[in-house]
Amino acid sequence: MDQIRIKGGIPLKGKIHISGAKNAALPLMAASLLTKEVLTLKNLPHLADIMTMSSLLIQHGVKITMTDDGVGTLRFDSSKIFNLKAPYDIVRKMRASVLVLGPLVARYGKAKVSLPGGCAIGTRPVDIHLFALEKMGAKIEIKEGYIIAKTENGYLTGCDITFPKVTVGGTENILMAATLAKGQTVLRNAACEPEITDLAECLVKMGADISGIGTNTLVINGRDSLHSATHKVVSDRIEAASYAIAAAITRGKIEIVDADLKNLTAVARVLTECGVSLNETECGFIADAENAFLIGTDVMTEPYPGFPTDVQAQLTALLATASGASLITETIFENRFMHVPELARMGANINVHGPSSAIVRGVKSLSGAEVMATDLRASMCLVLAGLFAEGETTINRVYHLDRGYENLEEKLSACGAFIERIARN
Ligand code: UD1
Repeated sequence: MDQIRIKGGIPLKGKIHISGAKNAALPLMAASLLTKEVLTLKNLPHLADIMTMSSLLIQHGVKITMTDDGVGTLRFDSSKIFNLKAPYDIVRKMRASVLVLGPLVARYGKAKVSLPGGCAIGTRPVDIHLFALEKMGAKIEIKEGYIIAKTENGYLTGCDITFPKVTVGGTENILMAATLAKGQTVLRNAACEPEITDLAECLVKMGADISGIGTNTLVINGRDSLHSATHKVVSDRIEAASYAIAAAITRGKIEIVDADLKNLTAVARVLTECGVSLNETECGFIADAENAFLIGTDVMTEPYPGFPTDVQAQLTALLATASGASLITETIFENRFMHVPELARMGANINVHGPSSAIVRGVKSLSGAEVMATDLRASMCLVLAGLFAEGETTINRVYHLDRGYENLEEKLSACGAFIERIARN
């Protein structure tokens, strides 16, 4: 398996272009199942998860064609779906595969989707997705590791659903399902992440009737069918935040291009509290920590617009190098401090208390080490720590990074980082 080798201690300076958001692209790709016409998606990132979702859609019968316009455009033709089963072999690789459930049941009245199972950051059940589909009239059975969903008359029926907990994937699945349901669906306590807004805006282009976009209450009037559309995937706010932290941790200055600071309000507030200066530009922002004296701060992860759990690990690396103490509280996932023991091996001073909090006491230096991470964002946290550390850091299990960071080495090298991939068989 490939490794990434970093020689730390270089302040990064330059420009980084942000890719299309993986977490927006995956539900958008699943949305192509809602119509027999063609959905064209632009700005799709080249990532392992996009390949996994493509394989899943292809085995359902979706024809995917690539255009060579150089901006990551794929056309999805779902006119001939011949298989309503999402097999374990694909779903186990990527939990977001469960996003095909809502569209398939909405369009065909039935589907069979493997249960995703647990993952490194928590148990991550899909019970709320199923509860909502049942409320819309689907009969759900769990058999041999599969969710088997069927409707009596071949369609879902709109209704009033209050999500018992804010769920991004649950909101996306049910929002897509509701676009083809009979009658009106109201989704309360819905997640309102920018990726959900992006999905809703694409669904509207496809002919869906949705109001309340960007809020916690979505009202959807079901349509008989949806039609073709072209949509550009929103830029990746988690990638943008990660590179802003790369500027901060190396005490450098990076212009983050093709990013929207408005989708990063909570991250911007925390970074500013630490002493990083962030200035909006025409198509992004500049993260500047040159000559900055960074200090610790307290942070709690929350659903959007709160501080994203997907930036918690990266921020932990930064706080480990800032002066003073910081308290980090993780409220979304129950096992999301797996990066801490690896950071400790590099010299960080962090105490984890119970499943949800960590006290970080900043240190003046970290030392390079051989490390490995259990998930995507934890891997990025180790890259960031490696960029700051003295000496050499080798990161194993690079496949996690390949799931979510397009051209990572190229983007960081362009800002002066010494980072290289070592191919291993
Ligand atoms: C999405 C993101 C992921 C991000 C997470 C939270 C994608 C592809 N992934 O994941 O990067 O970290 O949002 O912002 O967009 N839960 C239940 N029952 C359910 C559904 C969720 O208990 O049916 C719980 C989960 O275990 C978790 C919390 O709700 O503790 C939030 O999960 P959710 O928002 O659904 O995360 P994902 O959509 O899986």
